[in-house]
Amino acid sequence: MEKIDNTFGVGAMCREKMEFRNDEELRECLSKVVGKKFMVVGGGANILFVGDYDGIVLHSKIKGIETTEDKEGTTLAVVGSGETWDEFVAEMVKRGLWGVENLSYIPGEVGGAAVQNIGAYGDEFSNAAEWVEAISINDGTLRRFDISELGYGYRWSEFKGKFKDKYVIVRACFRLRRDGKPNLTYKPLAEAFADTENVRLTDIRAELEKIRWGKLPRPEEVGSAGSFFKNPVVGREVYESLAERYPDMPHFEVEGGVKIPAGWLIERCGLKGYRHGTAGVWDRQALVMVNYDLGGRRAYEDVEYVYRHVIETVREEMKIELEPEAIIIR
Ligand code: EPU
Repeated sequence: MEKIDNTFGVGAMCREKMEFRNDEELRECLSKVVGKKFMVVGGGANILFVGDYDGIVLHSKIKGIETTEDKEGTTLAVVGSGETWDEFVAEMVKRGLWGVENLSYIPGEVGGAAVQNIGAYGDEFSNAAEWVEAISINDGTLRRFDISELGYGYRWSEFKGKFKDKYVIVRACFRLRRDGKPNLTYKPLAEAFADTENVRLTDIRAELEKIRWGKLPRPEEVGSAGSFFKNPVVGREVYESLAERYPDMPHFEVEGGVKIPAGWLIERCGLKGYRHGTAGVWDRQALVMVNYDLGGRRAYEDVEYVYRHVIETVREEMKIELEPEAIIIR
């Protein structure tokens, strides 16, 4: 048995771990796992293992950032799926390239970012990505997916849908610009720069560092998977009956209904800062389930109790069914 790295810090084990540094090594790994139970894990930043995993874990160690610039000021950056997402972002900011700076400090790796379409602070993966390359689990062929083929949406891509368990991501390409403009659509960011002219890339990254770690636990200190739940989109009637009860409820009109922040719902149910054993609901952002027992062999038991308790309480009080954003493996 081997330890599975995960930002929740639950001490789950797997039968075996296999790592690959390039496409060829991945093909070799795939030939060895035929007929066996296996899964691909990236940085383990959006996953909760509720117990040990009785299978093989594949992990990309495909590294490298290769950039090419054209005359119009566009830079294409091809990045290995095993690169740490935020190291890539930091490098682009350092090189003066705009396009991924709003996704600063998101834990995890590039492959995982492509699967779940990471998003924060007014931006998401699919806005900057140009294509994603993946290897077919079935026959080892390399396929390049244009971003338009991947059905990107809120925390969604076809790697969770029709391509699930069919491909392993090896690299992604991003379109960046030297002459980009700041994206200040996230309100707290706009507020921070209300009186600033010529906001620089480094200013955005510095501000996001403050915003993020003011609300979310640092993975090296407290275990979590960032947001544990998706923000639910509810129908008009549900929204209106809640808005009557809570006129100050934050909400966003989106396609198909009204999005309500899950963190707000959980806080309204009195669960912000809730504790059970060594797990709890983060006291500065109720959307985050936390584990205070980093590396604890059975830490997942308390985490599981907490997230189920949250779902049940919100269902009873608010008549809304929260859905985990994190992938749960049992
Ligand atoms: N709110 C509360 N109480 C809370 C948490 C939030 O009242 O405990 C309210 C806030 O006051 C605000 C609204 O809910 O009015 C939205 O809060 P916030 O800006 O913190 O964003 P969020 O909707 O809770 C989403 C993402 C985060 C991302 C932030 C910022 C999801 C599931 N989560 O959170 O993503 O960082 O927006 O863009 O969409 C992640 O996926 O791991 C993650 C952290």
